[in-house]
Amino acid sequence: MVARKLKIGLLGCGTVGGGLVELVGKNSSLIRQRAGVELSITKILVRDPLKDRPGVERALLTTHPEKVLDNGCDMVVELVGGIEPARTFIQHSLARGKHVVTANKALLALDGFSLMKAAELQKVRLGFEASVCGGIPIIRALRNGLVGNQIQRLTGILNGTCNYILTRMTEDRVEFDAALAEAQAKGFAEADPTLDIDGHDAAQKLKILAELAFHSRVAADAVQTEGIRHITADDIQVARELGYVIKHIATAEVADDSIALEVHPVLLPATDQLASVRDENNAVLVRGDAVGEMLFSGKGAGSLPSASAVLSDIVDIACHKGGFSASFGGAVRTAVPDHSARHYLRFPVSDPSAIGPITNILERNGVGIVRAAAVWAKNASAQNQVRVLTQACCRSAVENSLRDIAASGLEKGKGIALRVAE
Ligand SMILES: NC(=O)c1ccc[n+]([C@@H]2O[C@H](COP(=O)([O-])OP(=O)(O)OC[C@H]3O[C@@H](n4cnc5c(N)ncnc54)[C@H](OP(=O)(O)O)[C@@H]3O)[C@@H](O)[C@H]2O)c1
Repeated sequence: MVARKLKIGLLGCGTVGGGLVELVGKNSSLIRQRAGVELSITKILVRDPLKDRPGVERALLTTHPEKVLDNGCDMVVELVGGIEPARTFIQHSLARGKHVVTANKALLALDGFSLMKAAELQKVRLGFEASVCGGIPIIRALRNGLVGNQIQRLTGILNGTCNYILTRMTEDRVEFDAALAEAQAKGFAEADPTLDIDGHDAAQKLKILAELAFHSRVAADAVQTEGIRHITADDIQVARELGYVIKHIATAEVADDSIALEVHPVLLPATDQLASVRDENNAVLVRGDAVGEMLFSGKGAGSLPSASAVLSDIVDIACHKGGFSASFGGAVRTAVPDHSARHYLRFPVSDPSAIGPITNILERNGVGIVRAAAVWAKNASAQNQVRVLTQACCRSAVENSLRDIAASGLEKGKGIALRVAE
């Protein structure tokens, strides 16, 4: 078979871009045999051309974006990250009729629809497999493999940093700060981990997945988002004693004529499929009307797993000539999730006798109590607490109680209210 040549202009040569250069070098003959395409990277945009980049030909590097976009490449791969200048690079590439592959979840969550429309108008393709769950081919599964299904629900662990921190807190019984420091030392968490630990990274990924799964546009603020920074080793221990593990879970679910989307820490039964997903791994459980439940799991980030997803888009686009279909419907109605579920609540208090008035407020708001405990601080740096396990009740009843308890002045600091999954 005579291989077709495909010239790639690469924007960015950091963690994922460097991985792509390595993978193309390592597996190019395999790709030629399997897909009949001969890949070559013709130019690479970076900020600092003098930086040490093992395995990268220095002559390919440039700091001028137009030298990448204007050198006759067939496809542009955007691995710069962030909103600008990445968006402008992609828009210029599409306008020039070039296929684009990107891993940029922040940009896709903000502006994915208009970029897909621009690709459609130009009859070129926009690939973004690496934007969600790194090496796991979940985008392709939703776009192609499961296209014959009505997706009813997808739920998953979409942020490797949160999962790594919660795994360390569970298995090593360390506090949040120590687990975060370890995640940073191992390169799983950024120097500024806010986007990860406050849930925004998972919310961006959930928005991208939900738009594909439900063929609809989802408003940027539709995902109810809560992070993990207030969870303590004691919370994890209490969950363990009840037979649960705490996981940071993203869920998108059809609810009547709308979709409920949320990202939050949840007590999952220790036997749940997602409970055994450890460390920096990701997983997505998809429920379709024809296939039932399917679990996708694996490495959600990192140089080679993410480069593997980028390369899968490159080869897919190279093999499928012809136009691109965005296949999105209109904007979908979204709902604030208000399932009935048991909840685990923890209130820091100065006086443990606050247990009486706190449980009274909960009951007044229709929140039944399975058990409540006043817990004295073990040492001077810790706080007294009231812990409550509720009966199944709507989230709105819990929210109303939390508002009344905060207004009563009984609470001294930030507590938590976690849903217990059955
Ligand atoms: N890291 C992961 O595991 C992972 C996983 C999935 C998706 N992603 C996504 O992949 C994308 C890239 O992430 P990354 O981790 O590879 O980022 P990174 O390591 O920070 O690399 C970014 C690259 O872009 C270059 N760059 C940045 N701004 C530039 C500018 N204004 N002009 C020219 N070059 C510029 C940098 O040049 P210098 O090298 O000279 O600094 C660097 O080579 C992001 O959208 C990210 O969300 C990352």
